Amino acid sequence: MSANAVFSRLVGTGSALPGRCVSNPELQQFLAERGVLTSDEWIRERTGIEQRYFASGDETTTSLAHAAAQKALEASGWSPSDCDLIIVATSTADQIFPSTACMLQGLLGNHGAACFDVQAVCSGFVYATSIADALIRAGQAQKALVVGSEVFSRIMDWQDRTTCVLFGDGAGAITLQASDRPGILASRVHANGSLSGILCASGRVQGGEVWGDPFLRMDGQGVFKQAVSVLGQSAEEVLQLAGMQSDQLDWLVPHQANIRILQSVSRKLGLPMERVVSTVQQHGNTSAASVPLALDLAVRDGRISRGHHVMLQGVGGGFTWGSVLLKMI
Ligand code: UT7
Repeated sequence: MSANAVFSRLVGTGSALPGRCVSNPELQQFLAERGVLTSDEWIRERTGIEQRYFASGDETTTSLAHAAAQKALEASGWSPSDCDLIIVATSTADQIFPSTACMLQGLLGNHGAACFDVQAVCSGFVYATSIADALIRAGQAQKALVVGSEVFSRIMDWQDRTTCVLFGDGAGAITLQASDRPGILASRVHANGSLSGILCASGRVQGGEVWGDPFLRMDGQGVFKQAVSVLGQSAEEVLQLAGMQSDQLDWLVPHQANIRILQSVSRKLGLPMERVVSTVQQHGNTSAASVPLALDLAVRDGRISRGHHVMLQGVGGGFTWGSVLLKMI
């Protein structure tokens, strides 16, 4: 490593999906059997979602994180022991503690890396990437593994059609390495805790029981309006930090919640939808996994390549949001 390595750069990506793919018509049938009415047409028109993946019994947040991490390590030509920092972004950890990152470290067979989880809901991966970049730039780490992994199907209320058709499970991962040239050009993350109630799973484990509501609840329209507003502002903030204009972006990889949110941000930035990576159709909303899943897909199919400027954007519960602007070097 160069002695004057003061930046970080993205080296490799990976992702993993659970084995069970559920189309809208299949979900419609499953819900109808439980007296809950929805339709393929409503889901497509209001969200763009066509299918999602659900974990089965033996598929966990940690196992999906492991599969995605292995692919990112392989793409980077790293062995697990190369990593000195492992961060997992998740809101659906398999255990209260230890962290998913420590459990992932155990599965990978890494010893000694700093490991912790980041809980920023659907912004979690962007938060985690921003933290890993800061630790690398501060000289605290050289080679970081950053993962977003979720099993949101566990916290769905299958009687609540306003949420249960939206989410899916999955994981995505990247590796970041210290570099003497900037890969990550700028990043900023934010939150507004006064809006914590518009997207939450408010229950907790206490005295051996679940206290309160264990399911995800969302004020969909409230979240929609906030998301559109903060994503536009956040993109402009980070572009300004990097001294760039939106027309210099090759790719926008936003959190995948609703195709209408993606379209609205693309209009705000004057960036054609052809330059917005959209996987909400295939994956649904996979919370902290959605950005690295979309990024990995677009890297592997050759759309995102060396020299491209890419903006990653997260938004969600907290209320949290943020952007990372990077150059693929
Ligand atoms: O991951 C964090 C970020 N999350 C997001 O960004 C999600 C943001 N919000 C959204 O994407 C949208 O607000 C939703 C997709 C959640 C909802 O879309 P909407 O266009 O805001 O619909 P709505 O809530 O205004 O509901 C319209 C109608 C209602 O019926 P009435 O009152 O007009 O008769 C709902 O009861 O659609 C009804 N509805 C449904 N109908 C069929 C709500 N959910 C369903 C459903 N199937 N699954």
